[in-house]
Amino acid sequence: MGIASAGTVTASRFDYYPVPPSRPVPDLGADLLHGFALSPRRLPPKYFYDAVGSQLFDRICDTPEYYPTRSEAALLAEHAGELLALARPRHLIELGSGSSRKTRLLLQAAGQLDLELVYWPFDVCHDMLERTGRALVEEFPGLRVRALGGDYMGGLTHLPRPDGRRLFVFLGGTIGNFDELETQRFLGDVRAQMQPEDRLLLGADRAKDAAVLEAAYNDAAGVTAAFNLNLLRVINRELRADFDLDGFRHRALFNRAESRIEMHLVARTRQQVLVAALERSYRFEPGETILTEISRKFTPAMLEAMLARAGFDIERHIEGGERLFSLLLVRPAGS
Ligand code: SAH
Ligand code: AVI
Repeated sequence: MGIASAGTVTASRFDYYPVPPSRPVPDLGADLLHGFALSPRRLPPKYFYDAVGSQLFDRICDTPEYYPTRSEAALLAEHAGELLALARPRHLIELGSGSSRKTRLLLQAAGQLDLELVYWPFDVCHDMLERTGRALVEEFPGLRVRALGGDYMGGLTHLPRPDGRRLFVFLGGTIGNFDELETQRFLGDVRAQMQPEDRLLLGADRAKDAAVLEAAYNDAAGVTAAFNLNLLRVINRELRADFDLDGFRHRALFNRAESRIEMHLVARTRQQVLVAALERSYRFEPGETILTEISRKFTPAMLEAMLARAGFDIERHIEGGERLFSLLLVRPAGS
């Protein structure tokens, strides 16, 4: 489980800690059994992020159509110093950190403010944690990276609780990948970890023109399609299934009533898929879909209601001129 130390000076600034869940977390087999019994069939998005999927996500961020990464990075580039000056953290705990590409803007701003930070990236993808953690200690001399491997849906009560003010960070609009119930449980878990002086920095994508949204999830180079289809490769490997990747195609549509992008895998033909590890097979009719991800898009009113309900006060809401994306610095209500 642990990541081997190379015994170099930089390696000694990089540690890895597994974070055990504090509530039961279903595995892929259980999630598939449950989700494939629903109509339409569905799977949780965390299984996208094996080593290949994590790298595909990073490539999505560079496609011309996928504006959220660029929008959020622009807001951070302009406001990171101000946000850190408000939060004055000693510890930066990032949930779903991925390649930490935008976090670098916070780390750079911390350097300019002479804030000595410990960075705690938390992610379900071990490969990405190791690759990124090692790169960061090379890039930022003096930075300590304490990588946390785990599933944030399993609760956060086993997170380390270092002394000093903490800034929790949840970027990319990943909050939008949760349904209403998951959102409240996740925010409640974060809130329960926070002392009055701690802060949460949340990135959330905004509702906008359907054409802009749909283009972002249907990039012309097909990177999002490859990311979506890679899920079938994960299932084949982990559960000895025989999904034919050519038998499905990617589809992403904006559901205006629910204010969310829905990503599907659509069966091209009638087919039967064996999932050997579960001793089950599943029939697909042409056009039948698996809902693989929702990505909710928020109005300011939705964000305010969501945060108030979870027990947060908004300290700063940054949205930029185009209002494509929101960054919110929030604190426990009443603190
Ligand atoms: N925050 C980064 C990455 C977003 S992609 C950015 O803004 O670009 C979503 C990240 O969350 C991935 O790195 C994925 O591995 C991680 N992730 C998804 N589900 C998770 C879970 N249940 N627990 C922990 N990490 C998860
Ligand atoms: C990680 N998450 C915020 C991305 C999103 O936009 O919902 C995942 C993604 N799916 C397709 N493209 C990007």
